[in-house]
Amino acid sequence: MRSLKYLLRRSTIDESTKYAYRWLFSRAQQLQRRSQLHLKSKSLFGIFRHLIHQYHRHVPIEYLCGSAMFFNRLFIVNQHVLIPRRDSESLIHHIQQLYKSNKNKQSIIEIGTGSGCLSITLSRLFPHWQIHACDISSSALRIACNNAYLHHCSNIEFHYGDLFNSHFLENNSFDMIISNPPYISKDQLSQCNQGIFHEPSIALFAHPPLKFYSEIIHRAINGWLKDGGYIIFECSPFNVNQIKELLENQFEQIEICFDTNQLARVISGKKKYLKPYQKR
Ligand SMILES: C[S@@+](CC[C@H](N)C(=O)[O-])C[C@H]1O[C@@H](n2cnc3c(N)ncnc32)[C@H](O)[C@@H]1O
Repeated sequence: MRSLKYLLRRSTIDESTKYAYRWLFSRAQQLQRRSQLHLKSKSLFGIFRHLIHQYHRHVPIEYLCGSAMFFNRLFIVNQHVLIPRRDSESLIHHIQQLYKSNKNKQSIIEIGTGSGCLSITLSRLFPHWQIHACDISSSALRIACNNAYLHHCSNIEFHYGDLFNSHFLENNSFDMIISNPPYISKDQLSQCNQGIFHEPSIALFAHPPLKFYSEIIHRAINGWLKDGGYIIFECSPFNVNQIKELLENQFEQIEICFDTNQLARVISGKKKYLKPYQKR
């Protein structure tokens, strides 16, 4: 407490920083009580100092809290997972819209689940669906499993693997494929805010930027997606038209949905039924 009072007395600190320090101090107390953080120093002062250091390095507040809200649910997050974004809720709204009159059981695969926020939200909204969620990061999968436990999800199977490994989930097929893949290109880096550099780069950057979309669409066409099944991507206003072009040959009913800022954020398509002579 003395350390906090000492800091707050310093006249060089503005009001908003004082407010942040008070919050960080109570977070440090909470962490010390739970002794859940493997910090070098477990003393209250040590934890507090560590948090202040992180705060000044622009580490996002969600990482300092250890949690983030998504679709009115609390998710555990750490620096191994992307912080769930409000914009990604558009993808859930779109799926609710597509399936509001379809009560059948669906098997779905999510590519790149991160914290698990998308799969877990769907698991709670559609408890009769069979959900598969995969990621290349085992640390992210650990967080996703903890979140699934926290939200009592019993219909999700997690898979560790690389989308670009040709044997990955081969011989499987699903009614729906969803993904919010990495899509930021190196030349967009200058437009990113500082907080993003604390998130895992494997979750954000892709070179070339459409490589995840192309690979997922290729796999969907070649067996992962049943005829008549939906492919649903989070996208950005910068890549939506290119993704639409990738979908156009083999998918119909292509829809683009907008987020709360009226920016293109979700694109979906329904896999065309093949005529009998087109089937392999
Ligand atoms: C943009 S994040 C999305 C996380 C979460 N679905 C969300 O919307 O908040 C992309 C995820 O894809 C995973 N990923 C990156 N490369 C991958 C690959 N080759 N195979 C499978 N997953 C991958 C990352 O680890 C990351 O968790």
